[in-house]
Amino acid sequence: MKKYIIQTYGCQMNEHDSEKISYTLEGAGYTYTDHLEEADFILLNTCIVRENAEHKVLGQLGALKHLKQKKPDLIIAVSGCMMQTGKARDIIRDKYRHVDIIFGTKNIDDLPYILNEYFQTGEPVLAIEEEMDLGEDETHVIRGSKHKAYISIAYGCDNYCSYCIVPYARGREISREPGRIIEEARILAEEGYKEITLLGQNVNSYGKTLRYPIRFPELLEELNKIDGLSRIRFMTSHPKDLSDELIDAMGRLDHVCEHFHLPVQSGSDAILKRMNRKYTRDQYMELVRKLREAVPGIALSTDIIVGFPGETEADFLQTLDLVKQAEFDAGFTFIYSPRPGTPAARMEEQVPKEIVSDRFQRLVDEMYAIYLRKNRARIGTTMEVLVDGTSKTDTAVLTGRTRTHHLVHFPGEPTMIGQLVDVRITGATSFTLEGEQV
Ligand code: SAH
Ligand code: SF4
Ligand code: F3S
Repeated sequence: MKKYIIQTYGCQMNEHDSEKISYTLEGAGYTYTDHLEEADFILLNTCIVRENAEHKVLGQLGALKHLKQKKPDLIIAVSGCMMQTGKARDIIRDKYRHVDIIFGTKNIDDLPYILNEYFQTGEPVLAIEEEMDLGEDETHVIRGSKHKAYISIAYGCDNYCSYCIVPYARGREISREPGRIIEEARILAEEGYKEITLLGQNVNSYGKTLRYPIRFPELLEELNKIDGLSRIRFMTSHPKDLSDELIDAMGRLDHVCEHFHLPVQSGSDAILKRMNRKYTRDQYMELVRKLREAVPGIALSTDIIVGFPGETEADFLQTLDLVKQAEFDAGFTFIYSPRPGTPAARMEEQVPKEIVSDRFQRLVDEMYAIYLRKNRARIGTTMEVLVDGTSKTDTAVLTGRTRTHHLVHFPGEPTMIGQLVDVRITGATSFTLEGEQV
């Protein structure tokens, strides 16, 4: 039996793309392995959102060269966002001669043909499409989990935030037909899946490109009717497109989880403007207020970029202040990384590294303290946990997520994996809750 491994970089979109790619590879006779040395087919599914993501891939490709020297039949493939834009693809094609197959984010459906071509000719294959074709049947997926699943609802992004490469890597925003999404969700429910996560770079603008446009809250409304799906999540949301209808739907629809990931990026109006985010700090805080009012107990998470070009100490203090006011339950903080080809990379006044690292540290200290305070306040409450697996360090401990997306550890049997369990919270750190089954 030939074996394959996929190493996935970047976001959930890429993780889900890897699940689609697995389907084709298994159809071609490969079985999955966790061990790189065992694999006959190694795929790196890449990300280009920050420079370090690119460095990791190039480093890994360098290491794979040695493996290929020992094992000349090994097939090495590279896919994903890094292949769609920027210089890396050309560098890999020209300088990394041990790479056999390169394909883009819009060629996943073509993979059977790409593999065929490679097997017939033995020559390197490069397949990069610029336009997304939605003729696909997305039920052709080998999912990483038996109880929670990703469903793509839209591809691409039209927002062009000035720092971001994603619109260049993923192309224009295009929505899948609601009928197909609902059908995919129904099949998942019949198969026993308990949770779905709807994926799009900006789910709030879902439906705009459809022949018969519908809006995101209407899609949620339909999905909420499916029996057996206890949890519906979605990401990511853009504050400029977060409507009162969606906030209302969040409060009303019982399967939609009490968690909202709402990237703010910065707390300074001047920076938000230069980022081309199209909302102000006050508008963002108003959304936070409305969400907390409509959905009691909701957890809010965010993304923040530190050190955007021209960010002054006063701008940064605005971000710190917003974080204190919004009281986020979780978040991702990033150091600004100039992406060639984006408007921000051409802006003067790039902030010196030492200043950025100092601000980054102050920001995470503040955020972690808030998470800890908020997590401690949950001690004594009972939360529903969907059990994902056993802890890496102790198999007598289970890990899972609450509806609010908190990570919970509690003692239990592996037979409980995939089940919904009520857990009383007994302890907390900034990032995890501990508890016991009630
Ligand atoms: N579409 C989503 C996710 C985009 S990428 C959204 O709009 O939120 C995920 C996060 O990466 C972004 O929210 C942003 O915080 C961060 N990011 C994007 N480009 C970046 C860059 N050039 N440098 C640092 N962080 C970046
Ligand atoms: Fe990037 Fe902005 Fe689109 Fe998100 S909304 S993917 S940050 S351009
Ligand atoms: Fe990276 Fe592409 Fe996602 S650039 S963050 S993998 S959309």
